[in-house]
Amino acid sequence: MPRTMTVLFGGTGPDWEYREAPVPDPGPGQVLVRTGAVAFNNADTAMLDAADQYVAGFEFAGEIVAVGEGVRGPAVGERVMGTTPRSFAQYVLADHRHVLLVPDGVGYEEAAALPTGLLTEHGALSPGSFQAGQSVLITAASSGIGLIGVRIAKAIGAGMVIATTRSVAKRELLTRTGADVVVVTDEQDLTQAVLEATGQDGVDVVLDHVGGQTFADCLPATRVDGHVVNIGRLGQARSTIDLDALSYRHLRLRGVSFGFTRAAELGAVIAELTPQVLPAVADGRIRPVDTTLPFDQANTAAARLRTHQAHGKVVVSMP
Ligand SMILES: NC(=O)c1ccc[n+]([C@@H]2O[C@H](COP(=O)([O-])OP(=O)(O)OC[C@H]3O[C@@H](n4cnc5c(N)ncnc54)[C@H](OP(=O)(O)O)[C@@H]3O)[C@@H](O)[C@H]2O)c1
Repeated sequence: MPRTMTVLFGGTGPDWEYREAPVPDPGPGQVLVRTGAVAFNNADTAMLDAADQYVAGFEFAGEIVAVGEGVRGPAVGERVMGTTPRSFAQYVLADHRHVLLVPDGVGYEEAAALPTGLLTEHGALSPGSFQAGQSVLITAASSGIGLIGVRIAKAIGAGMVIATTRSVAKRELLTRTGADVVVVTDEQDLTQAVLEATGQDGVDVVLDHVGGQTFADCLPATRVDGHVVNIGRLGQARSTIDLDALSYRHLRLRGVSFGFTRAAELGAVIAELTPQVLPAVADGRIRPVDTTLPFDQANTAAARLRTHQAHGKVVVSMP
């Protein structure tokens, strides 16, 4: 095992820097993973613009090279994908409950793009808010995790998936990903379009990645007793909602932020998705990669995310 490794370091300027850091030892309950690939999220570019000095990254895939005391399940030599802060590094420490086995036949580049999207979108759909056959509205469905949400909803039996994008150019992408109906919000009224697609009833479940006015527009587009889950605030964190729409429709509102979830609860969310979603990863139904770049081009990857050019996840393969 080498004593030092290269990490992507943020907070010193507009771009990440490559720095040398010691390879950590796994503590109790932790696994040490030699990363094969890491993937980018919107939160990475947001942190790069705002945060103090830090090692960047949230998701990875690679091989377990050491385990700490009390680790049950994952073992040295196994191929895993997982989520943890400071993942943009050649070696990553993760809670053993926060890694999943990579199915046979799935490479590290594909696997690294999955953990955040799988746990966020599946965790937002369950528990209790979704049953097979129901309709799901996914806003900003063209985002990295939104595209995974569309695929998960289809894989676990959604009757209808309605996907939104601001751009007509991404309509085809969403249809190809599995959306039954695409709403282009720069051209169509979101509420009206969803009501039309659902025979005026509204959808059973909303996964909202936008917030602001979009979140407000989703409420009258949700059926009586339906669920609205806010996942992201790509537009705005503040929203003025119509309380009549909320009350008359008996809606249930929920917010999720898995980065702020306690370790054991996050482990339970990951354990729950394993039997439902990993088969769809294994057979190729959930493959979200847009671009794979070498580690020394991480700042090019960030530019692709910032300019909203990506049609899926941006991945960096590790040396
Ligand atoms: N709750 C959680 O635990 C959790 C976990 C991960 C991510 N998130 C959140 O989920 C959201 C998506 O993350 P991501 O990494 O998948 O994002 P991403 O890939 O960077 O998403 C980019 C896409 O979002 C759409 N978009 C950007 N700004 C928008 C706006 N103002 N209004 C509407 N659409 C907009 C654009 O698509 P179009 O051009 O097609 O409109 C753009 O291509 C973020 O807000 C992120 O913070 C939450």
